[in-house]
Amino acid sequence: MWQRTACARKTGGSSSRAGSRPCTGCRAGSCRRNEQGIDVTRVSAAVGAQVECGDVKALTAATFAAVHAAFLDNVVLLIRGQQLTVADLLAFGRRFGELTPGAPVHIGQKPRDEQYPELAIISNVIENGVAIGGLGDGEAVWHTDSCFNDVPPSCSILYAVEIPPTGGATGFANMYTALDTLPAALRSRIAHKTIKHDKRYTSGGQLRPGFLAEQDIRESPGPSHPIIRKHPETGRSALYLGRRPHAYINGLPLAESAELLDALWAHATRPEFTWHHQWKLGDILIWDNRCAMHRRDALDPATRRIMHRTQCKGTPILEGV
Ligand code: SIN
Repeated sequence: MWQRTACARKTGGSSSRAGSRPCTGCRAGSCRRNEQGIDVTRVSAAVGAQVECGDVKALTAATFAAVHAAFLDNVVLLIRGQQLTVADLLAFGRRFGELTPGAPVHIGQKPRDEQYPELAIISNVIENGVAIGGLGDGEAVWHTDSCFNDVPPSCSILYAVEIPPTGGATGFANMYTALDTLPAALRSRIAHKTIKHDKRYTSGGQLRPGFLAEQDIRESPGPSHPIIRKHPETGRSALYLGRRPHAYINGLPLAESAELLDALWAHATRPEFTWHHQWKLGDILIWDNRCAMHRRDALDPATRRIMHRTQCKGTPILEGV
C-alpha cells in the first residue's frame, strides 16, 4: 500500500490526460515515501524518478512491488550506488519479468557470453582488435529498443560498470506525454495507422549482419506496429515511433509518410518532454520501452564506457486510442 498524500502534480507530465493517477514521486508534493521505506523522487518534470531502496540484491517482495509501481508511474527509474555482478544484474532484471536475449551483435563485435545470453554489453572498448560491446562511441539516435522485432522488449535495465569523465549521457522522452499533447490535427492523421520498423540498422547507424543497405523502405525487413499503442499494464496510450531513420507509415506516399513522421518526431522530442542522465558508477537505469524513447550522447573515443544491459520479454503490441 502506498501512503498517498495530496499531491498537486500527476503522473506522466503536464497534460490533463496524463493526470489520471497520483504521482508517486513528485518534488512538488509530499508523496515520496511509501510504507516499504523506499524514496521516490521525480528527476524532472518530463519523465523519470530516482528510487532510494538500498541494495537491489536485498529487496523483499513488498519492496520490489513498490519499486515496480514507481517504474510504471514514472516510465524511467534511476537507482544509484549498486555493486552488481552479471549474475546479480540478471537476477534483478528477472524480477521485472522473463529476460530475453537482445539484438544480435554487430559485425566485428565479440560474440555474446554463452553463460549469459541475456546480457548485452554496450561499450566503445576494443580489446585485441575486437569490440567488446555494441554502439561504440558515437551518438545513438532517439529510439525504442528492438522496435524492429514482432514483440519488442517491455523494459531495459542498464548498469554502469565503467563510465567516461564526460559524454555518454542517456536521454529519455515520455511518450505518454508526447501523445497526450499531440495537436488534434496530427492525432487524427495517425489514427489506426502503423509504422514499418526497419530491422537493418542499429541506433548507432551500423548495418546489422546479413542485411542489405540498398532497399526501398516500404519493402525493408521488419514488422509494422500501431503508432498509438496501449500499455498492457497501465492501460494508457502512448506514441510508438521506434526510430526515425528508414521508418515508413504504411499506406502513405513516401513524401507524405516522411512529412508526417518528421512532424511527429519534432513534437515527441521537444526538450520539455525529455530528461538526460549523466551517469555515475554503480547507477542503474530501468526504462519502459512501451512508453519511452531514449538516446545516447557521443563520447570521447579516448575514454572508456562499459555498460551491462538486460531486457525483459514483451507482450504482443496492442493498439491504443
Ligand atoms: C541504448 O541505446 O540502449 C544504450 C543507451 C546507452 O548506452 O546509454
